Amino acid sequence: MTPELRPAFIELSLSNLKKNFQLLRRISGTSNFFCPMVKANGYGHGALVITRALEEFGAKQVGVNLLEEGIELRNGGIRLPILTFGSFERSQVEILRQFDLTPVVHCMDQLTALDALGRQNMKIHLKFNTGMNRLGFDENEIPNVLKFLKSRSWLQVEGVATHLLQGEDALHSDGHTARQIRRFHQIQEALSAHLSPTYFHSLNSAALINYGSSQKDLDQTGWRGELGSRPGLSLYGIHPNLKTKIELLPVMQVKSRLVAIREVRRGEVVSYGGTWSPPSDALIGVVGIGYSDGFRRALSNRASMLFRGRRVPVVGTVCMGLTLIDLTSMKSGSKMELFEEVVVIGQQGPECIRCEELADLADTIPYEILVGQSERLPRKILEPG
Ligand SMILES: Cc1ncc(COP(=O)(O)O)c(C=O)c1O
Repeated sequence: MTPELRPAFIELSLSNLKKNFQLLRRISGTSNFFCPMVKANGYGHGALVITRALEEFGAKQVGVNLLEEGIELRNGGIRLPILTFGSFERSQVEILRQFDLTPVVHCMDQLTALDALGRQNMKIHLKFNTGMNRLGFDENEIPNVLKFLKSRSWLQVEGVATHLLQGEDALHSDGHTARQIRRFHQIQEALSAHLSPTYFHSLNSAALINYGSSQKDLDQTGWRGELGSRPGLSLYGIHPNLKTKIELLPVMQVKSRLVAIREVRRGEVVSYGGTWSPPSDALIGVVGIGYSDGFRRALSNRASMLFRGRRVPVVGTVCMGLTLIDLTSMKSGSKMELFEEVVVIGQQGPECIRCEELADLADTIPYEILVGQSERLPRKILEPG
């Protein structure tokens, strides 16, 4: 076995990923378009390992943002269709073809850039803006889009997409989502006389869970059942902030090890800036993870970690590769050993630290905690999916 080279690592439960995938696919309607999102290094989990697993579980396509993310997957042997939702320009169009990436085209510049392909067939998706005002054609551009496509039959519109700005409110008939979905339906109707895309897709995790698990509300929202989904966060076991709950299981655990143990006397201070001082003589553990690994500096003096199945507070300022924890309450137990395990995110004994907890403490969202996990942390696969 290769020795561990660093005292921090990520454990991935592919069997939890599989359960989340199956549950989400079921509530999205098994015949509907379903595109797991693996952008930003698979939401920080490791794009390749996650996509290989999804391919095995029966995913029909995956979504990324950047061209380089698509290239990484192709170079890693992924054969599934890969939708790229981000930007590209004329000089990069050849890359789309070379790596067989399916662009989700959001503006006229991108459409015209595809002319550089010559007359070779390419599947594309079109993205429309229905209220988020980030990426996407506006409804009034439809005539131009159709005119452009009419003379370019080699561009095959396989799908039409929009993106929701607040899937959390999907069950309110006057919420952002309901309004966006109504606009999306109008766009579908305007296109239907001219194009026959196989897929329409719009639902992120929050909207999918809201709609998919509340069948009785579907009619009220005007949802027609043909809207596909592109879940990201929920796939990785993090529940969007909703009243409706489904059983999602975390895929990622972050762990580290004690790299030093020291006594610190009352009145002394610890770590940069001396922001913490023990109320009485203390036993301090130094953990081999820091903000360069993704354990955010904002968690200084706020977060807890798990040691021997108990919560212990993070004390002092989080450093680049080290974080200090107060082990004083555990002094009476058996002797502490260097390299004992410390759980940063995950379960240990009866205790659990969830990514949502760290996000709250760092005044951010779980997405940022997940994608902030450094690519340098080794990913260990816990068990086959
Ligand atoms: C275009 C697009 N679709 C789907 C998603 C997935 O959203 P979520 O992670 O909330 O499920 C994202 C994420 O931001 C996105 O940008």
